[in-house]
This record gives sequence, structure tokens and C-alpha cells, in this order.
Amino acid sequence: MTTATSVKGSVGTAHTRVEGRDKVTGAARYAGEIPFAELAHGWLVLSTVARGRIRSVETAAVLGMPGVLTVLHHGNAPHVDRDYIGLLGVKPDPTVAPFQDDRVPHMGWPVALVVAETSEQAREAAEALVVQYDQEAHDVAFSTGRPDAYSPDGGFVQAVAEKGDLESELARAAVVLDAEYTTPEEHHSMMEPHAATARWDGGRLEVVDSNQGAIWVADELAKLFSLEPAAVRVRSEHVGGGFGSKGVRVHQVAAVMASTVLQRPVRVVLTRRQMFSLTGYRSPTTQRIRLGADADGRLRALEHRSLSLTSTVHEFVEPSAGVARALYDADAHHTLNEVVRLDVPTPTWMRAPGEAPGSFALEAAFDELAEKCGIDPIELRARNEPETGPVSGLPFAGRHLLACFQEGARRFGWADRDPRPGLRREGRWLLGTGTAAASFPAGAAPSTASVTAEADGTFTVRIAASDIGTGARTALTLIAADELEVAPDRVRVLIGDSDFGPAMIAGGSMGTRSWAWAVMAAVRELREQLALGDGIPPEGITARSDTAALLGTLEPKERHSFGAQFAEVAVDVTTGEVRVRRMLGIFSAGRIVNPLTARSQLVGGMTWGISMALHEEAVRDDASGGLVGADLAGYHVAAHADVPHIEADWIHGHADDSDDDDPVGIKGIGEIGIVGAAAAIANAVWHATGVRHRNLPIRPDRVL
Ligand code: MOS
Repeated sequence: MTTATSVKGSVGTAHTRVEGRDKVTGAARYAGEIPFAELAHGWLVLSTVARGRIRSVETAAVLGMPGVLTVLHHGNAPHVDRDYIGLLGVKPDPTVAPFQDDRVPHMGWPVALVVAETSEQAREAAEALVVQYDQEAHDVAFSTGRPDAYSPDGGFVQAVAEKGDLESELARAAVVLDAEYTTPEEHHSMMEPHAATARWDGGRLEVVDSNQGAIWVADELAKLFSLEPAAVRVRSEHVGGGFGSKGVRVHQVAAVMASTVLQRPVRVVLTRRQMFSLTGYRSPTTQRIRLGADADGRLRALEHRSLSLTSTVHEFVEPSAGVARALYDADAHHTLNEVVRLDVPTPTWMRAPGEAPGSFALEAAFDELAEKCGIDPIELRARNEPETGPVSGLPFAGRHLLACFQEGARRFGWADRDPRPGLRREGRWLLGTGTAAASFPAGAAPSTASVTAEADGTFTVRIAASDIGTGARTALTLIAADELEVAPDRVRVLIGDSDFGPAMIAGGSMGTRSWAWAVMAAVRELREQLALGDGIPPEGITARSDTAALLGTLEPKERHSFGAQFAEVAVDVTTGEVRVRRMLGIFSAGRIVNPLTARSQLVGGMTWGISMALHEEAVRDDASGGLVGADLAGYHVAAHADVPHIEADWIHGHADDSDDDDPVGIKGIGEIGIVGAAAAIANAVWHATGVRHRNLPIRPDRVL
């Protein structure tokens, strides 16, 4: 724009990460490794009982240990305000505000923070700290049929959606499927553990953290500590994964408490084991699906009920019985989410909350129904394709589910498939293929951004976005470059700083769409300002945007990404081992900003689907109330050797293909990759062996 040549086409062209070199050379610093002068180190002490009261914290002995500066616990810690509504519209989970009373509501509850000059000294003292408890009987037994299960009211989750008379439609159906599916407790297991450093600087609280939304954490900290919003700054420049777990957590709050007491910078880093009880997880689910169809496969009745668990101190619901509200219609359509309170840590969002476990049950059930009807699984879906939102009645903003299946079937070689199970053998391996549908909502939230035209001809974008490994920083660079009509190397995108103003968090697959909208709006404003003026002053020219009003102009529609998952497995009949041989996912997710990182997101989600189908399972011990093997030795995630060639691709990836009224055209790809992936694998295991696996993970002992 300041030059004569206009450069377009950055969006849609593969681009390596703008911070990639910094990351691979170690120049990119993560929250736990940024140096501070006078830094003290906090180490959390967690409860060793699952329910009760703290009788005493015997601090005297450890206060004399080398380097120990203080021990915070419920008897001396600063009090915080937990009675507020946060940025996301809900009350805080008391789990994040430690040391406020003597109650212990679950195993691994934070009971003290030992602060010392070095991390090693803090750890040694923390391990030596004696805490006495008055233990009470606990209940961590998750199962169906619990009389205390209830249907939640409000919050993020629509608990119930009901249309039509379920029982009479089931009675009229020629084919009925009634099955229960279970998924276990699963953990985020991102590479970078939670870490924060808090310090006071001239009356201002500064926190360097690893999170999915600097503005979100800043807002919560301001409310917890009764500070003006402007008195808190949170920065989170590089993040080694989040998956829903990196919001406000106990590590930031404990660090702020200690830095307030000591008037020194204090860092709290969580260990992998601590993360298993302090940073949320995906609830186990039991899901009952009842499908009733005419002989030709058309659905008369669809019921999806899901039970998940939450803690006694906060309600979080895994909304697994929601995925059918977008996917399939039926004359009677009932979906119900229930929850039960147990003496366990509070679960939280984890990649595709609801859709990941929900799609396993629903898409496995569809495969079973296809078998019962003698219809190809893809054809069964084609016969149940809704005209409008099955529950909402709203029109779809681009629904390309069948197009994804068609393209996927063509590339996977589905047409040659013999639908009969247990027929293909290769030595000791039985072979099979399976498919499943995927969908994930495409939302957006108000965000603000600024763009500065610098005097040297470059541009600086500031937005409190978060790049949790997704490539968001790069995507926004391409978006800004295209709007500015300049090459990406003239654009610098600064993110992860709450001082940049309100913006959507990296969550709900809504980040890139929300932030891109704000960046595009700011650039348009800047271009208007530049068109008026002559020349750029030394301080540059800055334009700002706020998309709150723009978002209100969108028509209400069913907005979702869609996809079709395909898997081929080999099952070892002598050991029960399941190996995924190949996977293909074809998605429709609107405009694809950066094909390189987009493909990585989708392949990452599908990889997690392998992990979910075959490996991941946190086992809670009823007797102790704690997890067995709460570390990456005991909790198995798919390793390289488990992951075959995975292909992910999309249809309709360009702005011109968008049949939506959304001017951004982006739908989101962060979560849909895992949706349906585990079901495609489970369906392939059935095709290989003739045995349905309704309980995840499909471990060798379950296969044999
Ligand atoms: Mo995601 S589970 O919305 O971080």
C-alpha cells in the first residue's frame, strides 16, 4: 500500500511458522524458563487423602530447612474473592483459589505452597512437610444408575433437547439399536507443564504464564485479588500446548499469593504428576444410544443420553449428548446430558469437549445400525441428512458432510469394501476398515486488535491472541498481510499480552476466526486513515478495531465444520494388539488460512483419536480416591510407533467457496480432527474381527 505493488495470496499458501526458527533454536522462551532477578520458587504440596479436613500443617520443621522462605497454607494465605462471574460467564472453580479453608474435596488438592530460594530447596521442603488430616469417607465410583445423577441447569451446556415421542417412534421402528458406550477419564497431557511467574512492579501485578488467553487469566486474577483490571498484566508468549487445560489454574494464583507475601518474583511450575489432579481432565462418560429406523435406514427415533462426573466444589459437564443435534435428524430426537458429583478433581474442557466422547458413541452406534439394516454406513448417513438443524430448525451455513464422505470414499477406496466382518486375514492379522462423521461448531467471539503502520514501511499487529502450538501467530500474519496487500515479511504480529485488550481465548476452535475478524477490521480502518494522510510520522499510525458490533450482524444459522473420518486397522488375533494402518480425514472447515499448519492441526486431532481409541485411560482407585500411575509412564498416549500415515485434507478451502454470510469465511479446525476418529477406528476393529468394542480404550485384553 505504501509501495506501488500489491501482494495478495498469502492466505491459502503454505507458510512455515513465523516463530519456528526461535522455537527450534531455543530462542523462544517458555514461561518456566524466563529469567527474573531475585526469583523465588514455589512448590505445591497436595493432599494425600480424598476427603476430609486439614488438622494441622506442621511448618516449623521445614521453615528451618535450607533456603526456605515461607510456607503458605489455609492458616496464613491471603484471602481471595471467589464470588464473581468470570469473563466466560460462570463462577470460578474454587479449585483455582487454594488455601482458603481446611476442606479437602479430593485427592491431590493443594494444601500448601513451600517457597524457597531454589526450586530444589522448595521441592525438598515440600516433600518433608507434614500435614495431618481428619479423613472422611469418600466416593469416587463412577457408574450408570446412580440415583444422585442430575441434569444440569445453565452454564455452558444445554442439558436437554427433546422433539417428538421417542417411545412410540421406537415401537414403530423396523430396526432398533440400544447400546451403552463408555469412555474413560482422559488427560490433556500437553508437552509444556503449567508454569507461572508473578511479580509486583510499581503497584502493578505482572504474571508471565503459559495459557490459552492472557486477557482471560488477567481478568480472573484481577477479580480474585480485587484489583483494577488495569493493575494486572499477563503475558504468555509461547505455549507448548493447552487443549483446554490452560486457563486460570492454581499455579498462577499461588504464585501471586507468594509474591504478594514475599514482595519478590515467585515462580510455580507444576510437575507432570501434579497436573493429573490440578489442571482438569476429561470426565469419563457412560452413554446410552437408542436408534430406531425404518427398514431403509431412515431414522424415526434417536436418543443419546450421557452421564459424566464433576467434583463436589464445581460443576463442569462433558456435554457428550450434543453432537447429534447438528448431525442427524429423526422424528423423535432426544439428547440428555447428566452429571454426578464425586470426591474427584473438577474436570474441564479437553479438545472437542462433548464431541470427542459423544461422537465415539453416536458414530459407533450408526455403524451398528448400518450393519443391522444391511446398508453401507455412508449411505445410512446420506439417508438421514437433515435439511435444517435437527433441533434448532435453523438453516445450515454450509453443510458439506456428504461431500466430505464422497471425497473421502473415493480417496480411501471405500467402493471396493466388502461390508462383511472378519473376512480379511494377513498372517496373524485381521484387517478391517471403518468410517465415521465429524462435526464441530464454528463460533466467534468479540475481539479487539490494533494495527500500526510503521515509518519504515512495516506493520505491527497487536492482539491478545494465543498461539498454543496451532500456528495462530502465523495465520494472523497471513491474514494481516493479505488485508494490507503486502508480503508477510513486512508484518509483525504481537500476541499473548493482556495489555493488548480484550480478545477471544484460544478455545472452542474459535480463536483464528475471532482474531482474524478483528485484524481484518483494524487493517481496513488503517487503510482508510492512510488514504487520508500524507506520510507516516515517526511514531507510526495506529488503527484499532472491536468486532463486538460486527458479530451481531451475523444471521442465526447452524455453523459447523464437518468431516469424514476413515481408518484401516490390523488386529493381531494372538496378542489382541490393534494397529492403525492408515487414516484419512476429509474436512469442510471454510477458508483454510495456512495449509501447512492447518493440516498439522487436523492430523494432530486424528492422532489423538488413535490415542483415544487404543491407549488413553486414567484409572481411579476407589479405595484411595486417587489415580493409579498418574504420569506418562502409567498413562499411555500414542507414540510415534503407534501412528501410521495419516492424511488430512479439505474441500471448499477458499473464501470464494464459502456459502456463508460470514465475511471471514473461517470455520475452525482445532478440534474437529479428533471428532469421529476413535469411532472410525472402533468400527474398523469390528470390520476386522466381527466384535463390537463399546468401551474405550480398545486394549489388547479387551480384544482377546
Ligand atoms: Mo479447547 S477444549 O476449547 O481449548
